[in-house]
Amino acid sequence: MFEIEQKVMDEARQGEAYQGLEEETQGSEKRFYIESYGCQMNFSDSEIIASILNSSGFGSTRDADNADLILLNTCSIREKAEQTIRKRLTEFKKIKKNNPGLLIGVLGCMAERLKSKLLEEEKLVDIVVGPDAYRTLPQLIEEAETGTKAVNVLLSREETYADISPVRINSNGITAFVSIMRGCNNMCAFCVVPFTRGRERSRDNESIIQECKDLFERGFKEVTLLGQNVDSYYWVDPISNHAIDFAMLLEQVALISPKLRVRFSTSHPKDITEKVLQTMKAHENICKYIHLPIQSGSTRILQLMNRTYTREWYLAKVKRIKEVMPDCAISSDIIAGFCTEDDNDHYDTLDVMRTSKYEYSYMFMYSERPGTLAAKRYKDDVPLEVKQQRLAEIVSLQNQLSLETNKLDIGKTFEVLIEGNSKKSDEQWMGRNSQNKVVVFDKTDAIMKPGDYVLVVVHDCTQGTLIGKIVS
Ligand code: 5AD
Ligand code: SF4
Repeated sequence: MFEIEQKVMDEARQGEAYQGLEEETQGSEKRFYIESYGCQMNFSDSEIIASILNSSGFGSTRDADNADLILLNTCSIREKAEQTIRKRLTEFKKIKKNNPGLLIGVLGCMAERLKSKLLEEEKLVDIVVGPDAYRTLPQLIEEAETGTKAVNVLLSREETYADISPVRINSNGITAFVSIMRGCNNMCAFCVVPFTRGRERSRDNESIIQECKDLFERGFKEVTLLGQNVDSYYWVDPISNHAIDFAMLLEQVALISPKLRVRFSTSHPKDITEKVLQTMKAHENICKYIHLPIQSGSTRILQLMNRTYTREWYLAKVKRIKEVMPDCAISSDIIAGFCTEDDNDHYDTLDVMRTSKYEYSYMFMYSERPGTLAAKRYKDDVPLEVKQQRLAEIVSLQNQLSLETNKLDIGKTFEVLIEGNSKKSDEQWMGRNSQNKVVVFDKTDAIMKPGDYVLVVVHDCTQGTLIGKIVS
């Protein structure tokens, strides 16, 4: 079970330490160390935090033992995520014992949820900063240096960090994430995000385009536009009064260059529009992949979850996506064991998975989060063993579906963007096709490098990987 629950966004990146550049740390007297947990948005925020700290004279280190400041950028989405972070904090206690001047800060969603309670609960924490208050981090550090506990968990209606240029160090230099909006107004009953990340607000399109152009000029070949709910992106230019919606933004980014791939995440099924689908279809460099979380396949449960669509409505959306773009891959988020879920609701979920033929899913057991609508209104009444059993069935079905859709790709040729060596061998490249599937193939041409596009014909597959050969 543990492994399954670990599928939080990018499993491999949980707790990843930020790696600094040599030149960035030169001349800095103080060093910060940061670990990130949770969704891609948090990893993206850590790049903004690094930029803010660099500007105020901090260099980075990958070694917590050498740091003057240890920061944890935290996640509250499930109880397990918070447990992992608490455990990590107790490990930092030891370092603090040997280095009493060391400051420890908790940032992100857990900071927002627990606020100053964290200072009392975890005696070693000196700084607590919520997701909208990162600009105040340098002042808070100064305050904490005088021995005062420093907290800023104010949420904002405007903050988008639009003018801060993120430091992208851990990336492969080929693919980057660009935040386009923050917060969420949706109030799904299970979800703590509207409380920890606040109201929805969009970043101005000019700064987004500029950031994407800069990335492309620096050799990046793929940008993923990020937001909790990208389809509700909406920006009105204050001078021209011109309104820009998500479809228009997507197009503007796609037009930067046909050699720049564009992805986006996450879409709420109720908000993704026909205009977005047509824009995707019109531009080859907008990748044919949509992350379209269903959460549950039962209309009754969807209503309790406040998802505002029915099972039929969702399936009609999937059908429409496939009509417009027959080669479009779809992935999902699925929660097992939400309040009152019975066997029939669970079978409905399995059924929707089969009908939607998801290429991939992120699958979770429901965990009650304090303060959410579900925590206030419903009893978390599905026994743990039942949740585990249902999750295991969901995972097993998804594994089968992933293998089946991969098998259908055998014989097809895809344009693949090379990201680096494959995990298993330096003799092989790893890249992705437009559908976001990992493709692995032998290196045959010495002049090829990460960032190149190559045509690859698939001859074999596993559940998670397509195996191919460069088309000469
Ligand atoms: N319990 C389990 N899964 C949750 N998610 C969000 N809140 C919870 C919760 N309380 C899942 C949803 C969401 C994904 C990011 O995390 O599937 O889409
Ligand atoms: Fe949470 Fe729903 Fe908003 Fe996603 S859309 S962040 S699940 S409230």
